[in-house]
Amino acid sequence: MPDIESLLKEKRIFKPDSQFTRKANWNKKVAAEYRKLGEKNPQLFWAKMAKEHVSWFTPWKKVLDWKPPYAKWFVGAKTNVSYNCLDRHLEGDDAWRRNKAAIIWEGEPGDSRVITYAELHREVCRFANVLKARGVKKGDRVVLYMPMIPEAAVAMLACTRIGAPHSIVFGGFSAEALRDRVVDAGAKLVVTSDGGFRKGEPFALKRQVDAAVDGVAAVECVVVVRRTGQDVEMRSGRDCWWHEEMATASTKCPPAKLDAEHPLFILYTSGTTGKPKGVLHTTGGYLTHITTTCKAIFDLQETDVYWCTADVGWITGHSYVVYGPLACGATAFMYEGVPTHPGPDRWWQLIAKWGVTILYTAPTAIRTFIRLGDEHPRRHDLSSLRLLGSVGEPINPEAWMWYHRVIGRKRCPIVDTWWQTETGGIMITPLPSSVPTKPGSATLPFPGIQAAILSEEGEEVEPPNGGLLAITHPWPGMLRGIWGDEQRYRDTYWSKWTNTYFPGDGAHRDKQGYFWIMGRVDDVMNISGHRIGTMEVESALVSHNSVAEAAVVGRPDEITGTAIVAFVTPTGDTESSDALTSVLKTHVTAEIGAIARPAEIRFTNSLPKTRSGKIMRRLLRNIASGDELAGDTSTLEDFSVLASLRESDEG
Ligand code: WTA
Repeated sequence: MPDIESLLKEKRIFKPDSQFTRKANWNKKVAAEYRKLGEKNPQLFWAKMAKEHVSWFTPWKKVLDWKPPYAKWFVGAKTNVSYNCLDRHLEGDDAWRRNKAAIIWEGEPGDSRVITYAELHREVCRFANVLKARGVKKGDRVVLYMPMIPEAAVAMLACTRIGAPHSIVFGGFSAEALRDRVVDAGAKLVVTSDGGFRKGEPFALKRQVDAAVDGVAAVECVVVVRRTGQDVEMRSGRDCWWHEEMATASTKCPPAKLDAEHPLFILYTSGTTGKPKGVLHTTGGYLTHITTTCKAIFDLQETDVYWCTADVGWITGHSYVVYGPLACGATAFMYEGVPTHPGPDRWWQLIAKWGVTILYTAPTAIRTFIRLGDEHPRRHDLSSLRLLGSVGEPINPEAWMWYHRVIGRKRCPIVDTWWQTETGGIMITPLPSSVPTKPGSATLPFPGIQAAILSEEGEEVEPPNGGLLAITHPWPGMLRGIWGDEQRYRDTYWSKWTNTYFPGDGAHRDKQGYFWIMGRVDDVMNISGHRIGTMEVESALVSHNSVAEAAVVGRPDEITGTAIVAFVTPTGDTESSDALTSVLKTHVTAEIGAIARPAEIRFTNSLPKTRSGKIMRRLLRNIASGDELAGDTSTLEDFSVLASLRESDEG
């Protein structure tokens, strides 16, 4: 198969600010030293990081035991995640952190809580004792199905304290999706709430749990947090209230001394087809990976108010809302609701109100704000911000520029971080102190991470062409398997090449060795024998000032084999028209070449997305070719989008 062609020419470059660099956790010199060490000897690098950022009860005998495709990191060592996130901030030289805010939380209705490290420790110990009293033992699985409330973090940490792996199911999933996951994980206990708030309305969670666990014998207990006050049915003998259990639970619960490879959590990712995959992560390596990346990439410091906008139901919520920042002793901000409630400026209001210094969010949110107009962020004082991050999808260069200009006010470095549920932590990213950034590029592998662009056959692809992104050396945060399905683990990630991890993304490198992620390999379009990634064509469209968001897919074409169909969401005040269609086609041709010229442009107010905000191109492919919708749609955020996209067909 030929390589993927790269068409996008992005020339802008932003150097690190010298003032930022001077105060950074990793200054230029340290960053260069670590990069060198990571290249030469990744094991030595990670061992050094493990000593520096993680507290261990027992040291390791061996840094890495690699029997492909299975890795063990820090063999023989013992630690505990909740100990690292809590206890160690209350002891010895660090005891001053007792009364530091660990979590600042605001609910959608505007209620708020500030929870100190000492208080969080007490709550976590209490809930760990509740779990024990309800029969949960080391190794038992606990499912969390909760809104973005502090109790979600308490429950996660309580599980880690006693060594019960958790599996968080995003609160927007249906009862059916929840049931599949509860059954697959073999969960003994479920933690939920009566409901949560979204767009000003309470939604129900407990009711979904009732439907999901009905007849599932393994589930012995359901613990329910009261959040909205709505009516719920409590089944006697199975269900209990969080506040009642907590009222009598002891605040003392020693952390279990767990093996570095003890299972920490299972997190289901929706594969494109069929059964969800339970991605398994373990303790010591994961903790090393996320603490090191938090310190180096977000430059987390004592005075920061750090806000990662992800839901705890996603990997970003695990690694960079809860575990990473708390293990670093930072102050993490958490928000319950949607970005646009009660008004389109809620986020900017929150940043100004709480003095948020670091914002980590997703391109889908950024593109939504672009569409809503600059006046909303412009109205608020965002001067507390000092660093911005992006994750989840390729960020189109023009969206990057908007983030830089309108949110960062041209002062804040942007870290575009590439990683996956499977990688546990960030893999390819700028270091804000030392790596010049280019809009649209995730830049370089993090020190200690080894990545390459390979062909199907495993040959290194020569720049400027693109190919398949590959991770060529094991890393500490890597998944340790698919829960209950060893074969699927081997087939999905390790069968393309020998001993090399296949993430499923296309990418290319430029002359400076920077990585540019070009989208999922499954979405690559073959136009007259040229293989073209989705990201570059979408970026060309988004670079036109009347386009807020775009998704491109291929549909079968008699002449070219495949023709490009573009689904386009115009910016706020733009009317779609035939004139705009031809302007956009010409624009793409001018930006990246005639080969990428869309055969068809369809305007739409919204694109079908997963609940974590990724565009579902698979569904758009079906719509573009007039096929029936195939495969799993359970992760789709809004079904009405599909109906309206089908209507746009007639237009
Ligand atoms: C995509 C989210 C380009 C990519 C942490 C990856 C990105 C998938 C980026 C994983 C980025 C994530 N640039 N693409 N900075 N970050 N992706 O498992 O396709 O929800 O394989 O993990 O998102 O998504 P997941």
